Amino acid sequence: MRRIFFLQAIYLCFFTGLHSQIPDNDNFLVTHGPWLQNMGAGGVTVIWTTNKPAIPGIVLTLPDGSSRLVRNSTDGIIDGGGILHKVRVDGLQPGTSYKYNLHSVQVLKYQAYKVYYGDTVLGKSISFSTFPAAAPDVDFTVFNDVHGLSGKMASYLRHNDIKAQDFYFFNGDMMDWLQDTEELYGYFLDSAAYYFASLKPFFYVRGNHETRGFAARELKKWFDFRDDRFYYGFDHGPVHFTVLDCGEDKPDNNRYYYGLADYDVYRLRQLEWLKEEVKSEAFRKAKFRIVMVHMPIQKAEKQNHAMTMLSKEYGPVLQGAGIDLMISAHIHRNAFLPADKSGFGYALLVNSNNSYVEVKAGPSGLTAHVRDISGKTVSEYKIK
Ligand SMILES: [Fe+2]
Repeated sequence: MRRIFFLQAIYLCFFTGLHSQIPDNDNFLVTHGPWLQNMGAGGVTVIWTTNKPAIPGIVLTLPDGSSRLVRNSTDGIIDGGGILHKVRVDGLQPGTSYKYNLHSVQVLKYQAYKVYYGDTVLGKSISFSTFPAAAPDVDFTVFNDVHGLSGKMASYLRHNDIKAQDFYFFNGDMMDWLQDTEELYGYFLDSAAYYFASLKPFFYVRGNHETRGFAARELKKWFDFRDDRFYYGFDHGPVHFTVLDCGEDKPDNNRYYYGLADYDVYRLRQLEWLKEEVKSEAFRKAKFRIVMVHMPIQKAEKQNHAMTMLSKEYGPVLQGAGIDLMISAHIHRNAFLPADKSGFGYALLVNSNNSYVEVKAGPSGLTAHVRDISGKTVSEYKIK
């Protein structure tokens, strides 16, 4: 008996001692995501987080079954060392199905002449398809004014045919404000990743509430915006999408902005971009043109400062450009103005804070279904 105790003591001393020399790399894991961003016909960005610093990569599997590890580098240095990971893959074929696994290598020590790696965590295999170069139709879903109530968005998603969607839009005010980027997960990002965002990309349209709080200026780091701007254009199937950023609602000198707002100048800069956007070949040649903007742009008497400016400055540019549909949010009620009632020649669909919109564009036209939290159709519009 004494001998057994003696051996146990030696065992404990040895292994406890040994264990204390092994760096703590237990429980290295992926904490949030992945979510797909900035999808196009030739590339996509994959974003996720780990609980400890890592070198991120994705194992990309091509349709022929061959695979390769993709890592990004900046100025010659492989990206990594943090906990927020962003890997961009380009050079893909349009309309093609690929698979990817997250590949995260824990970094235990990172010094000039000494780098210690810990565990490698390989995620499960996930499929995605690049956007087609040309396709007869497109299906997408729009969420807006979720205001941090991720359960509401989850209810929408339980009634949404995720497989049938090509992508999603978050049309602004997904939160009340952003004080700390950690809050993004609970507000909507974890729900999005759980239901669809690892397979289908979403495009973010900034609302006025995304501009509030200290971490509002960090928002771009958690996503990937085309050309690194909150306003951009892209194509899918027969549609050219133009995404606009409305900015804050009140005048820049409003006392609640404490001298930190500069949206009038920003909106004028965006306007110059919009004037070029509507001249672009992709825009002009598209069968349908859809504008996504959080605040509706229409001719109306009483509007807030931002909407008045957007109406005055942007309305005429959009009117001359032949927009088929504008999808907006912000006012927390459902509204629809046919093309002859918006004041700028396009149909305007405004979605409430208690419904979502499924849109289909194809040879038979452009249709939108507004559905409530239980998936029931609130209204249906045939636009063109
Ligand atoms: Fe809003």
